[in-house]
Amino acid sequence: MRVFLKHFVLRCLIFLILPHFLTQCVSSVQQPCLDSERSVLLQLKESFILNQSASDYSFAYPKVGSWKLEGEVGGDCCSWDGVECDDETGHVIGLDLSSSFLYGSIDSNNTLFQLHHLRKLNLSDNHFNGSGIPSAIGKLSRLTQLDLSFSGFSGQIPYEVLELSKLVILDLSGNDLELRNPSLKSLAKRLINLKHLNLDGVKASSSIPQSLANLSSLTSLSLRDCELHGEFPIEIFQLPNLQFIHAIPASLANLTELTYLSLAANEFGPAQFPIEVFQLPNLQILRASHNTFLEGRLPIFHKNTSLEELELASTAFSGELPESIGNLKSLSLLDVSNCSFFGRIPNSMAKLTRLTQLNLNSNQFSSRIPSWLGNLTQLISLDLYGNKFWGSIPESIFTLINLENLDLTDNLLTGSYKLESFLNLKNLKWLQLSDNNFSLLTTTVMNVTIPSPMFQILTLRSCNLQEFPNFLSGQDELEYLSLSRNKIHGFIPKWIWGLSAKTLEVLFLNGNFLAGLHQPTVVPPWTNLRMLDLRSNKLRGSLPIPPTSIYQYFVSNNLLTGEISPMICNLPSLTVLDASNNSFRGMLPPCLGNLSKSLSVLNIRNNKFRGSIPEACGEGSQLRIEDTFPSWLGRLQELKILILRHNEFSGGIGKPESNEFPELRILDLSFNKFEGGLPSHHFQRWKAMQVVDLSKLNYLEANVSFQAQGPRWILDFSYSMTMTKAGVETEYDKIQDFLVAIDLSSNRFEGGIPDDIQILKAVQFLNLSNNLLSGPIPSSLANLTGLQALDLSQNKLSGEIPQELAQLTFLEFFSVSHNQLVGPIPQGKQFGTFENNSFEGNSGLCGKPLTKECYPEESSPSKKDEGGDSWFEFGWKAIMLGYGSGVVNGLVLGYLFNPWKHKLFVKYFGRMLLNLRRDRRK
Ligand SMILES: *[C@@H]1O[C@H](CO)[C@@H](O)[C@H](O)[C@H]1NC(C)=O
Ligand SMILES: *[C@@H]1O[C@H](CO)[C@@H](O)[C@H](O)[C@H]1NC(C)=O
Ligand SMILES: *[C@@H]1O[C@H](CO)[C@@H](O)[C@H](O)[C@H]1NC(C)=O
Ligand SMILES: *[C@@H]1O[C@H](CO)[C@@H](O)[C@H](O)[C@H]1NC(C)=O
Ligand SMILES: *[C@@H]1O[C@H](CO)[C@@H](O)[C@H](O)[C@H]1NC(C)=O
Ligand SMILES: *[C@@H]1O[C@H](CO)[C@@H](O)[C@H](O)[C@H]1NC(C)=O
Ligand SMILES: *[C@@H]1O[C@H](CO)[C@@H](O)[C@H](O)[C@H]1NC(C)=O
Repeated sequence: MRVFLKHFVLRCLIFLILPHFLTQCVSSVQQPCLDSERSVLLQLKESFILNQSASDYSFAYPKVGSWKLEGEVGGDCCSWDGVECDDETGHVIGLDLSSSFLYGSIDSNNTLFQLHHLRKLNLSDNHFNGSGIPSAIGKLSRLTQLDLSFSGFSGQIPYEVLELSKLVILDLSGNDLELRNPSLKSLAKRLINLKHLNLDGVKASSSIPQSLANLSSLTSLSLRDCELHGEFPIEIFQLPNLQFIHAIPASLANLTELTYLSLAANEFGPAQFPIEVFQLPNLQILRASHNTFLEGRLPIFHKNTSLEELELASTAFSGELPESIGNLKSLSLLDVSNCSFFGRIPNSMAKLTRLTQLNLNSNQFSSRIPSWLGNLTQLISLDLYGNKFWGSIPESIFTLINLENLDLTDNLLTGSYKLESFLNLKNLKWLQLSDNNFSLLTTTVMNVTIPSPMFQILTLRSCNLQEFPNFLSGQDELEYLSLSRNKIHGFIPKWIWGLSAKTLEVLFLNGNFLAGLHQPTVVPPWTNLRMLDLRSNKLRGSLPIPPTSIYQYFVSNNLLTGEISPMICNLPSLTVLDASNNSFRGMLPPCLGNLSKSLSVLNIRNNKFRGSIPEACGEGSQLRIEDTFPSWLGRLQELKILILRHNEFSGGIGKPESNEFPELRILDLSFNKFEGGLPSHHFQRWKAMQVVDLSKLNYLEANVSFQAQGPRWILDFSYSMTMTKAGVETEYDKIQDFLVAIDLSSNRFEGGIPDDIQILKAVQFLNLSNNLLSGPIPSSLANLTGLQALDLSQNKLSGEIPQELAQLTFLEFFSVSHNQLVGPIPQGKQFGTFENNSFEGNSGLCGKPLTKECYPEESSPSKKDEGGDSWFEFGWKAIMLGYGSGVVNGLVLGYLFNPWKHKLFVKYFGRMLLNLRRDRRK
């Protein structure tokens, strides 16, 4: 969802949509085209690359594809796709290359600007790669229609646009343009014939010019997200054609004829939002969603209102819904989702029998679900997600046969229900019942010949299901299916593989007791599956290979064995692979390195993987030292998290091959048999660990969003894990983007701690404990100013603890226990908070917190400490174990996901823009 926000959160300041503008009727009598213009068009074609991703519109195709020279005369360019010629002169007067996959820069030299006779130019929905609008546009002085919307233009709009005084339609929306100099004011003064002006997203940064009111022909004005401010000139409302308003006028009370008012997605507070708005007698549609500053109680609704659609989602309105809401007899849509309402739903709403959409989700409603909901027989969508509704689901819900969307997720509902009862709602497409306290009974749903609704989204997480509901096998339109955290035992039935083969994108089967699967030997037949979650079952056998469409694959916490098949490398989009906590052995297939563009998270902790070379070369071989770290992993340029913890990797970590792990933030190689020096020559390459960027409080997000058919699933991927700070386990729900951790503990690393380590400035957790490290603790560690935990225990470090470490102000955990350190313990600041056990096992240390005081000559070398297993008793170990297992538990994926909400979201933010585009394209 976040991804989507980036693209579509547009603040709409003003948005007037007025009815149809004239469509122009052009007859198509043939006239041969002019040679000169033909070659101009061909050069135009050549100046761009055709690139599918340049156009978003689903009916896009490369219109210029048909532009070719044909026969002796070269072909009649007037018949080319998108080209329109004048009947009499043969000049090209219209060019419609909208949605044509055009990609590349455009400048004033483009032959396009030699088409002086153009009256209509449409380049919308292409990608001109951030080009400015070329000033040569001024040469096309005959233009009456210019549409450059959504085409990747950027920069200041040139003065030359103002020379196009014949323009009737101007659409520059959806680009990254500015209208500061010239300004909106001068544009409104010069383009006086405009009927349709759309500057959505064009940064004008001015007050709303009075001159707009002089555009007497204006029928449609859209100035969304233009950074306009100040009073809205009331004169604009005197424009003769005005019917729809999307603005806050100076005085609303006078606009008694108003039927449509949209104030959505602004920053209006109560002061700018006069309560009278609710009382305008003719108002049919009021959209005020996404005004997060709108707060307070809803007003009393009068009987004489005409409201049909009331959208107040994502505002701060609170309290109980007023009883008077029952006066809104014409209401067909009520959306108060994601506000702060509580209490019960007023009974008066039973009278709102025209309701088709009732969205109460994400509030604090706490009552039984009223049985009179069954009286709202027109309901198509009922969304109660994320409240505190308790008690049983009233039978009357099962009579709402028009329902297409029913979402009861995340409430406190109890009881047992036959799944069949829901399946009787034959129009359901989206059914979400997850995370309540009730059970779904499948026993009577055995007869697959009884038709059930064709679902697109079905989430039955934590519904106490005992078996796979049989009716699923007849579903072939599913896009999203979750059966996670139920009590399903036994084998995954064969029919699951390939269920809804063409449509399924997301499948959660995690958290059951599934013992195995009859996987076909070939790749499963899903063509669109992006996410497969089989975590925390009892799966045995070898790793099931998902289909090639997969993005995220989770199989951790199972009993899988054997080697990982190289077929895993045939998954070109694989972004997340979590195979941790199984019993895989052997070597990781090196071909995984080919997934360099996609793989962001590789978690294989707690398996029995080994390095490859020792097998080939045998113990004692020279090669072993250089090569046993799977160095090809370094090719994974996108890798952010690498967890190889608790395997059997051995040997040294070789020199970096090239630009390794530039994105790496979390590296856990602990509990292996790595040896040799610390990989200091790699430190330089770990760029992401070198930059402290606290301004970027984003959570770590792998790039896993993808375009799906239908709605766009945005699967935010975030990891959670447990780390222990100062002995206290802390659950990090989401790993913040700036969290950087290195755990090389419990290996056989030897030699000194390199000074270079200071380059990894962003490191917050550094654990080098339980290795064979020797020499002094470098004082340069004090340059890792973000360090929160530093564990050097269980090594053979000698010398003194550098006093500079006392400067580490964020240090909450510190241990150097069981080394051969001598001399005074740094005092003050954080060091005042560490206890004895941080320092014990170093007979030469003195000073607080130890009882041994420092004498001037104190420096007796301590006895070699070969404490064997003793390290295991100390906090930090347990800690890092915890951290590992947290990773396994922690994926917040899908749990927060509510597609219907998402749809609403698209509705609010996408609708106006997208529909505008679509409408125009009809
Ligand atoms: C295709 O267009 C996208 C942007 O829409 C761009 O990122 C990509 O590099 C282009 N591909 C080619 C081959 O030009
Ligand atoms: C246009 O072409 C001329 C000569 O062909 C060249 O000097 C100039 O830099 C070009 N302008 C742009 C904007 O590419
Ligand atoms: C309504 O309009 C009249 C004149 O058109 C104006 O005098 C009056 O102030 C307006 N009312 C409000 C509340 O602004
Ligand atoms: C629901 O409808 C039934 C029958 O149409 C009616 O008797 C009942 O009063 C209605 N419930 C409410 C709360 O209006
Ligand atoms: C399944 O339902 C169909 C239609 O209702 C019925 O004819 C058939 O006998 C049922 N089969 C079983 C096994 O109950
Ligand atoms: C920290 O880094 C600076 C330069 O980046 C260096 O001058 C200084 O000596 C370092 N401090 C320690 C304790 O090594
Ligand atoms: C430009 O083309 C798009 C897509 O074909 C269409 O929706 C839009 O109305 C056109 N613009 C104008 C001004 O005709």
